[in-house]
Amino acid sequence: MNQTVDAGVKALSQATASTAAGQSRPHESAHLHVAGAAPYIDDLPELQGTLHAALGLSPVAHGRLLHIDVAGLKALPGVVDVITAADIPGTNDCGPVIHDDPILADGVVHYLGQPVVAVLSHDRELARRAAARLKDFVQIEPLPPVLDPLQAHAQQQYVVPPMHMARGDVPTALAQAPHTVQGRIELGGQEQFYLEGQISYAVPKENRGMLVHCSTQHPSEMQHAVAHALGLHAHHVQVECRRMGGGFGGKESQSAVFACVAAVAARKLNRPVKMRPDRDDDFMITGRRHCFVHDYTVGHDAEGRLLAADVDMVSRCGYSADLSAPVMGRALCHFDNAYWLPNVQIDGFCARTNTQSNTAFRGFGGPQGAFAVEYILDTVARRLGRDALDVRMANLYGQHERNVTPYGQVVEDNVLQALIGQLVHSSDYRARREAVNAFNATSPVLKKGLALTPVKFGISFNLVHLNQAGALVHVYNDGSILVNHGGTEMGQGLNTKVAQMVAHTLGVSLERVRVSATDTSKVANTSATAASTGSDLNGKAAADAAQQIRQRLLAHLAAKHQVPVDTVDLAHDVATVNGQTVSFEDLVMSAYVARVQLWSDGFYATPKLHWDRNTMQGRPFYYFAYGASVSEVLVDTLTGEHKVLRADVLHDVGRSINPALDIGQVEGAFIQGMGWMTTEELVWHPTSGKLLTHAPSTYKIPTASDCPADFRVNLFTNENVEDSVYRSKAVGEPPLLLPFSVFFAIRDAISAVGQHRVDPPLRAPATAEAILEAITAVQASA
Ligand code: MTE
Ligand code: HPA
Repeated sequence: MNQTVDAGVKALSQATASTAAGQSRPHESAHLHVAGAAPYIDDLPELQGTLHAALGLSPVAHGRLLHIDVAGLKALPGVVDVITAADIPGTNDCGPVIHDDPILADGVVHYLGQPVVAVLSHDRELARRAAARLKDFVQIEPLPPVLDPLQAHAQQQYVVPPMHMARGDVPTALAQAPHTVQGRIELGGQEQFYLEGQISYAVPKENRGMLVHCSTQHPSEMQHAVAHALGLHAHHVQVECRRMGGGFGGKESQSAVFACVAAVAARKLNRPVKMRPDRDDDFMITGRRHCFVHDYTVGHDAEGRLLAADVDMVSRCGYSADLSAPVMGRALCHFDNAYWLPNVQIDGFCARTNTQSNTAFRGFGGPQGAFAVEYILDTVARRLGRDALDVRMANLYGQHERNVTPYGQVVEDNVLQALIGQLVHSSDYRARREAVNAFNATSPVLKKGLALTPVKFGISFNLVHLNQAGALVHVYNDGSILVNHGGTEMGQGLNTKVAQMVAHTLGVSLERVRVSATDTSKVANTSATAASTGSDLNGKAAADAAQQIRQRLLAHLAAKHQVPVDTVDLAHDVATVNGQTVSFEDLVMSAYVARVQLWSDGFYATPKLHWDRNTMQGRPFYYFAYGASVSEVLVDTLTGEHKVLRADVLHDVGRSINPALDIGQVEGAFIQGMGWMTTEELVWHPTSGKLLTHAPSTYKIPTASDCPADFRVNLFTNENVEDSVYRSKAVGEPPLLLPFSVFFAIRDAISAVGQHRVDPPLRAPATAEAILEAITAVQASA
């Protein structure tokens, strides 16, 4: 950890005002974050007459909604009005892909926690109290719920039709394989646990207009959802988001219900309405990462090379489709992870259950898919009595052969061999394997485990048309610059990177550039800030705008001095012409006086992408990001507790625009993924369907003390082979898969209990209970 911080500080002090890109620069709001001076939506001054909305939630998992006693609810203390589905002037739907997601329940309730009414009061607390009484004012005829995804799968109850991806001849390859293994892998879901909860503040404007301040990764989709709910056009609705206190995928589609409720209430009462659920309600209403069950049969040779894989993936989608189809699509596309699979067939089933509708979460199905192959290789290695690292290496994608993915994309930029080789060396993997074995030989209760896992993660939205972005760059005539782009800032540092790219392209210092709030009235038809593409797309769009202004400035300077344009330059805030220098301010003022346009729009569409979702073949990804990590853990076999003693990470971000931000993303993703792999467990009541783990008291995200005592994070020296922004690579999601090594190190430690002769049936998350159960099973069969 200290090494990383030192490296960041050193890099910061080396940065100069004129080298805007490729340098560690602080997050543009860091000074505001630490001073508590960065306003989030709940910090905005409330307009006079503002009302607060609270949602009344279904008390049952499935049922027919017979009657709501609206008058009874209205008579409760402080209640100004009650909104039901009947009050929605437009369409009662906020589903992002398929229109199966009511804003407020109508006719049938589909899960325990589904919003049924919105209660409005001057006082947020009174609104909440009244909304919590809904169960006394509603009549619901219970229907049998389906709470288990495997039950839904058995009944063929899906939110979208099953998906299939295949290559080669799996039945023949399985029949001919020297060894086969069959099994089931259980992998839990994960709550986004953004620190700033969901919030929307809707303000009616003139002539049917509506301004919505919304904590969202997808302002354009919120604009459309609100317009549909109000029965208006997109141009009536303006959605603004300056920053989020985290999104992690949870505010990609699921900010919509809050935006729509606030807007519908604001329209009905013609007053500003704020909708901020508390943490428990947020847990009960919104969905999260899909849990998966993988059933697999694989064939392999004596080296552990996979010859055939037949996998069924079942995900818990909850009651509606939301983004479950593209999540499953990405799971199928990431089953290969870092490995070449000659014969593979994967079927994906999106199970419909009477629970919250699951949604995007950092990695978006990719981690769930890749986890399966890692689990399988771990199992194969143990059966062969080989080090799992050697089995992984035997299966890696090759450079010029064995380099086509099951979906037909050629892996052109593979750095896995070099990256893993460097990490094996720097982490001292081989010597530590010996040391772990020696420790375990003399330690009957405490066991150590070690694992190295690689990552290959595809960058781009699977849906080709989403891979586009726009930006606006204004150069004011004092030489200051304002940028607006379609991406949203959620802590990841997107605005900083975009500002760096604008400064770099123009040839000026970063200090001149300010990025303003994302606003649907400035850049239209934006994609969600998701799929890790924020800086790739918006950085390129903003650089495009900056490049146009730069060309105009240089053309102006050349014309003024009557020299060819290729003899003038602009760098480090200074233009050079005829051996003379002109300050950026003077150049800009001179251009302004000459009536040169000093602002520009910019646009970018990722090239080379094509995808056939029926055959599941094509090139869905512009490029791949790579990484690997080694984790060493200590497991107490009597209590099931574990500690991560050391983690070494080497991650590929291409040519980094900002190493400090990138290292921060890698560290954050590692810890977030480690939480998913170890302590974050979701439990629903088996008969009522109530989510029991709906607060930090029962749902355990990692704390500072869970960080590896020795945490060594480094960036791999590389450049994107594709013409990405600054030849960098996206960093948001890929490192979330790095802490698979924590899980497999724990499995390795448990395996030591049975002298590595028994496969520990360890499920994820590897909670203390799961670890103890796996130990008990190993002891029983050892
Ligand atoms: N980092 C912070 N601090 N907060 C977040 O909410 N979201 C992650 C990642 N890193 C997130 C984050 C997710 S889910 C994605 S897709 C990317 O950031 C989105 O931003 P980018 O595309 O600009 O990297
Ligand atoms: N991550 C990855 N792929 C995606 C996402 C995401 O959040 N949204 C749509 N496709």
